[in-house]
Amino acid sequence: MANEMTGEGDIFLECKNLRKSFTVKRKEIRVLKGLNLSVNRGEIVAIVGKTGAGKSTFLRVLSGLEQQTSGSVIFEGHRMENLSNEELALLRRENIGIIFQNFNLLPSWTAYENVEAALLHIGMSKTTRREKVKTLLNNFGLGDRLDNLPSELSIGQQQRVAIARALANEPTLILADEPTGEIDTETAQDIIGHLITPVREKGVTLTIATHGIFPLDIADRVFYMKDGMLVSQQ
Ligand SMILES: Nc1ncnc2c1ncn2[C@@H]1O[C@H](COP(=O)(O)OP(=O)(O)O)[C@@H](O)[C@H]1O
Ligand SMILES: [Mg+2]
Repeated sequence: MANEMTGEGDIFLECKNLRKSFTVKRKEIRVLKGLNLSVNRGEIVAIVGKTGAGKSTFLRVLSGLEQQTSGSVIFEGHRMENLSNEELALLRRENIGIIFQNFNLLPSWTAYENVEAALLHIGMSKTTRREKVKTLLNNFGLGDRLDNLPSELSIGQQQRVAIARALANEPTLILADEPTGEIDTETAQDIIGHLITPVREKGVTLTIATHGIFPLDIADRVFYMKDGMLVSQQ
């Protein structure tokens, strides 16, 4: 397989004429108005846009958590709109890591339990799972915070737990929604390092949404989301 990964032309994720509208009080809000995008395997793509531009909606559609109104999302050759909810859930569990805008950590679960959640129901023994979660959190400098609840962690630490959870199932695709949204520049650099290193080492494909302050130079390509469309920077 690896020798087929020729980089250029090895399309991993594709959107074709992707549209998404919401109907609120009988009024149609058109958010995505015909997006086209091809992302190669191992590529880091940044989507930049103002608040309300549709970045989170786009990532939710890419993850299969939200159904598009029309158009296609093709993940490793599979048209996601043809998959059942169960198939989509399986695809997410096994292949996709999601870092949500507000982390989405379960407040009554410890750091350990939050990361472990990503490894349930994929046929992994409890012993292997425990080793894996501990190693991951250790790598993120949280080896001594396993039993802490999110409320007992700093924002930066919570963000690292969220990233550890997204990496736990060794996804081929990571969708990161404003991963440095709420934190100071120094913590942001640290978090980006934690995210980018495993992504580059393992050839994971990463799509990052950001509304502004973000070191865009870590991305291979940058797109702007404007008026429901994606515009390439270069
Ligand atoms: N579930 C929903 N129902 C109605 N409108 C929504 C829903 N989700 C998002 N929107 C609208 O879609 C637009 C884009 O939102 P969003 O994707 O969150 O943008 P961004 O992440 O770029 O800030 C906003 O106008 C928002 O109000
Ligand atoms: Mg958003």
